[in-house]
Amino acid sequence: MEFRRKFAAGEIIFEEGDVGDCAYVVEHGKVEIFAGKRNTRVQLATRTGGDLFGEMAIIDDEPRSAGARAMTDTTLLIITRDQLNQRIERADPILRMCMNVLLSHLRDTLRRLTQRNTLEFDRPLINDEALSQALSAIRLEQALQTALDQDQFELWYQPIVDLQDGQIAGYEALIRWRHPERGLIYPGAFIGAAERCGLIIPMTRWAFQQACTDLGALGTDRFVSVNFSGKDFAAPDFLAYIDATLAALDRTPSQLKLEITESLLMHSPETARRVLKALRQRGASVAIDDFGTGYSSLSYLHSLPADTLKIDRSFVQSMLVDESSHSLVRSIIGLAQGLDMTIVAEGIEEPAQGRALRDMGVQLAQGFFFARPAPLAHIVSLTEQWVPKSLAGSQDNSGPLSL
Ligand code: C2E
Ligand code: CMP
Ligand code: CA
Ligand code: CA
Repeated sequence: MEFRRKFAAGEIIFEEGDVGDCAYVVEHGKVEIFAGKRNTRVQLATRTGGDLFGEMAIIDDEPRSAGARAMTDTTLLIITRDQLNQRIERADPILRMCMNVLLSHLRDTLRRLTQRNTLEFDRPLINDEALSQALSAIRLEQALQTALDQDQFELWYQPIVDLQDGQIAGYEALIRWRHPERGLIYPGAFIGAAERCGLIIPMTRWAFQQACTDLGALGTDRFVSVNFSGKDFAAPDFLAYIDATLAALDRTPSQLKLEITESLLMHSPETARRVLKALRQRGASVAIDDFGTGYSSLSYLHSLPADTLKIDRSFVQSMLVDESSHSLVRSIIGLAQGLDMTIVAEGIEEPAQGRALRDMGVQLAQGFFFARPAPLAHIVSLTEQWVPKSLAGSQDNSGPLSL
């Protein structure tokens, strides 16, 4: 694979109208960007060490908007079409739309400068699919803002059960959006967008405040777990907000568990460590969510002030049919036990999964088998009438409550 190209002083790198195959970063030397052909060229700009050029044709798939010529002996580092495109595909659709619009303005200006017919190049600024993605992202973000302003969110709870005696040990708070036209919307459809546009911060704060309010109704001897995202932790006033909310609602942190995902920890390990430590000092408990889906090292986990590990439901659901998931679950349990952490297994849908996990030493579990997430009032009455579910399989369900 070719990584660099060298050009002698005066050599043309490409001409306006050429098909572009890559973008360049100037490593050594100097490059002139020019409009027009070799003999009538008008200098638009010069590029030296560290500068990028030739990106436009790769981004918008149009011919080269200008020519480029080495002014001195020059070495260029190649950025391939693939390298650029992969990043662009991952970028936010609204940013992509802005980029396309900027490029089309620039091309338009260049055409006027060289006095050519603008119509001959006219084409839509952005393809239909990209446009509809960008528009739906904008609409979703606006709808989320309205949802916050008009109090359309609800906090539901899912019981977390003790596998030894079948009693409810705590609850996980899970946000729901009651849309006036579209009905109930699950977080999978909006958390990502809220994270991208920053609305996740007021949204999580709303959930945290609501969970603190609901703590009273859920009973003082049980914990409530609240989900947080990376942006929440990074906000400079995060701890001050937590303290102020607890004080305003007269709650102690000991009933609260904060859930953060393993991937969040990997993205900003230092912030995570600092904030988690402060939370533990206040007496709150901290759980690492979706454990097993990221790539935490044992030493990193050991250095974190977390006290609970949640095993991701993908492993729980495949562990009885797939030997490698089974051994992964077994090693996560061993790891947590070695670090003296509590383990919560997620996504138990069948008694056999609960039995296997209990026999491997898992203390707590949540899943549709025990109870689905539901609104507060429903959960309060469910708790009052709670009867532990038997984990016995269909072959041996003879004994009463043979957990
Ligand atoms: P999570 O934190 O991993 O939450 C557990 C998800 O698994 C919930 O989905 C729950 O309904 C679902 N679940 C529980 N038991 C079972 C089961 O037995 N089978 C199956 N198939 N699913 C089960 P939900 O409520 O749709 O939430 C999805 C994700 O959205 C959560 O995943 C969490 O990452 C995020 N989320 C939810 N509420 C909040 C919130 O208030 N703030 C933030 N930042 N994220 C939230
Ligand atoms: P591309 O169109 O691929 O090839 C020509 C390159 O010249 C273009 O990408 C930009 O990197 C650069 N370019 C075009 N117009 C200008 C300008 N007005 N000023 C500076 N650089 C430009
Ligand atoms: Ca969670
Ligand atoms: Ca989870």
